[in-house]
Formats: sequence, structure tokens, C-alpha cells
Amino acid sequence: ALEDTRLKYRYLDIRRNCIKNNLVVRHKIMMAARKFLDREEFIEVETPVLCKSTPEGARDYLVPSRVNKGRFYALPQSPQLFKQLLMVGGMERYFQIAKCFRDEDLRSDRQPEFTQIDLEMSFVNEEDVMNLTERLLKVIFKEVKGIDISLPLRRMKYDEAIKLYGSDKPDLRFDMPIYDIGCVFDNTEFGVFQKVLSEGGIINCLVAKGVASQYSRKKLDQLTEYVKKYKASGLAYLKIADVVSGSIAKVVSEEEVASLKDVLSLEDNDLVLIVADKNYNIVKTALGALRCKLGKDLNLIKKDDYQLLWVVEFPSFEWSEEEGRYLACHHPFTAPLDSDIDKLITDKKHCYSKAYDIVINGYEAGGGSIRIHDEAVQEKMFEALELSADDVCEKFGFFVEALKYGTPPHGGLALGLDRIVMLLSGSDSL
Ligand code: AMO
Repeated sequence: ALEDTRLKYRYLDIRRNCIKNNLVVRHKIMMAARKFLDREEFIEVETPVLCKSTPEGARDYLVPSRVNKGRFYALPQSPQLFKQLLMVGGMERYFQIAKCFRDEDLRSDRQPEFTQIDLEMSFVNEEDVMNLTERLLKVIFKEVKGIDISLPLRRMKYDEAIKLYGSDKPDLRFDMPIYDIGCVFDNTEFGVFQKVLSEGGIINCLVAKGVASQYSRKKLDQLTEYVKKYKASGLAYLKIADVVSGSIAKVVSEEEVASLKDVLSLEDNDLVLIVADKNYNIVKTALGALRCKLGKDLNLIKKDDYQLLWVVEFPSFEWSEEEGRYLACHHPFTAPLDSDIDKLITDKKHCYSKAYDIVINGYEAGGGSIRIHDEAVQEKMFEALELSADDVCEKFGFFVEALKYGTPPHGGLALGLDRIVMLLSGSDSL
């Protein structure tokens, strides 16, 4: 209700310095980006806003046409195809501060209408785009916050991020990685763990150092409810002390406890939080979310700390239960790794791409990829996505046609301006 009142009287809200400051921060970021990209010989191009409905069409906003009754324009979800056409057209270095529109469910870090600092470059590889973006971010952080970030930023493969942090946008402001403790329970008598391991599942845990005594039964029950939201069947825990206690203290053997202490270098008053499941992703996602919750609850996050990293080598596809087919993880124009081109058809699950996300403090601040510039590979990609020739022709005919005229290798990225403003102004919502 307070939020509604603030929005209704937005002009009065803006008189408050903290709100005005957000607009100033936004301005400074845009100016810094424009100046930097101009110096780097990028050309700012405005692309159309009223366009033909394309790829992930389900999320398009539509605008009825007065002249052509019953026909609609779509508002762009991003200038993706336009900027690629600019590369075909020989522009080489493009950028735009672009309004994007997506009819998706609202979240605190997602809006239906938002702005990207969007760019595209010809004759580049992943490193070139990441290098340029890092330097852009360095300038932005310096101008807006006076902070010197040191380059190059860390790079972490997607699989590694999921394995260690249970997220493709890990918050590295605090440690607390996920440990695989399956080996400790290889010969366990504990039925639940036995079953999970025999089904090819995993047993993973987090260690909250020195806080076991702060966690009452009630608080631990709350954490259990929390991981259940992420489909984990439960949360097992151990409080480390001379006499170990906790939900599974009675069912694990002394040797297992000793081995656990050894493997995890446990000390008195450490709290071990365990999720076991036959589904790898459920375990990782649940512990990844729990990790973030503990980071906040235990005040492990320093104020004004910024931890940036690149998450690279995303899978090309994700399986959609809803549609019963693989969908493009980033978008259908993202190039697979050279070594994985054949996997587009033969092994979609293990096909990885030349895609990269820039992650800041646990938020996806931007993302991009090297694109497919070869018509044959693009055809394979459409085939992998089970798009019929008619679908392709109707949705991206103009684009496939353009690829035939000689397309330079190219790639780019878009930064979410609103998210960067949010991060640099210390807010936790857009
Ligand atoms: P993507 O969809 O990852 O990529 O978007 C790029 C960045 O834009 C921001 N963002 C959003 N911000 C606020 N509200 C939203 N609803 C929202 N959706 C996305 C995020 C995200 O990282 N065309 C590609 C980019 C490319 O490949 O060059 C694209 O749009 O910070």
C-alpha cells in the first residue's frame, strides 16, 4: 500500500534525495557508457520499436494497427535481430540504449518494460566481447561509485557455478560453497542416503561455520520448509560438538561423522545442512537458495562490496516439461562451441554454447553470446529446436535470407541498465 501511494505521488517521491539520486546514478551510467563506447568507435543506432512479431513470440506486447485492421505490431523484447542485421550490413560496432518490452511475470528484479545497454561487434570472439564489457563496467564503477574494479574479471563455467553455488548467478560476496559428501556415505546403513545413492543421486551440504548454537529446532524447521519450496524432500542437519546432535545424529555412524569432520574440516559449533536427492538439479538449486538465505540471515555480506564474475559456457538448450521439447537457453542465434556443433543434433543435453553472463552480487547484470554466422549451423539449430521449415520461414525468413549474403562472425551482449542502477544505488528492487 505504501508502495502504491509512492507511485501515485511519484513526483513527490522524487523530491526525496534518495530517489532523486537513483535518477542521477542512471544518468551517470548512461553518459559513461555513451562516452566510452563512442571512444571505442561504436555507432549508436536506433532500431524499430514497432516490428514484426518474432522468436519467443509468446511474450510479445502487441499494438493494433489502425491502417491494417486486425493486424498487430509487436514491441521488441530486445533489438537482437536488428543488431545482427546491422552486422550483416557492415556496421561492425553498434550500440544502443534500448527500451525492451516483455510480457512476463513481475519480480523484484524484472519489469515488463526495461532498458538495455545493447551492443554488437563483428570479427570477435567471446574474449573480445567480455574484455570490452569489462572495461565498460570498470569505467561505470569508477565514475558512479569511485570504485576501482580489477580486470580481468573471474570466469567460471556454468557447470562449475551450479556445482559449487547451485546457481548460474552466484553471489560471491561470501564463501560457503556446496560440498559433495556422497563418498562419506558409500556404505551407509541410513536408508534414505542409501536409496538416494543407489538411484544415482547425490548427497550435498553447506557448512555454516560457528553458528550451530544459534539454530533452535524451530529455526531449523523453518529452513526445512524453505528448501522444500525448491522441491527438496527435506533438510538433514548435524550440529558439531563433542557429542554431535541433529536430525540424523542417531542414524549415521561414528565413522561417518569422523569422516565428515575430516572431509569438511569441521569444528565445534559448525552447522552442517544436508540435502540428498536422486535429482542433481533439485539438490543444487535448493542448497543454492539456502546458501543465499544464510548469507543474508547470518550477515555474511559486507556493505558496498561488489563481486563481479563471468559465467561462461552455458548449455545451448534447456528441456521444457511444458512444451515437451528443448528450448534455446539464450536464444536460437547463439553459436555452440566449435567442438559441440554436431551435438546440436546428436546430444543436445551436452551441447554447450559461446554464451556468457556478467554476474554482479548474485544478479544477472547482462548477457550475450557469439552468434551463428553460418547458414548451415543456423539450420541445424532450428532443426534442434524442432521448428519446421514453415515456422522458420514465417518467423525468421528475412533473417535466414540475410545470412546468405556473407555474414561476418559477430557477437555481443546487453547489460540490464535497471539492474545495474539498482546495484550501484544500493536498492534491492527495480
Ligand atoms: P537477455 O534476455 O539476457 O539478453 O537480457 C539482457 C539483460 O537485460 C536484463 N533484463 C531485464 N531487466 C529488467 N527487467 C527484465 N524483465 C529483464 N529481462 C532482462 C538483464 C539481462 O541480463 N538480446 C540478448 C542480449 C544479447 O545476446 O546480446 C538479450 O536480450 O540484466
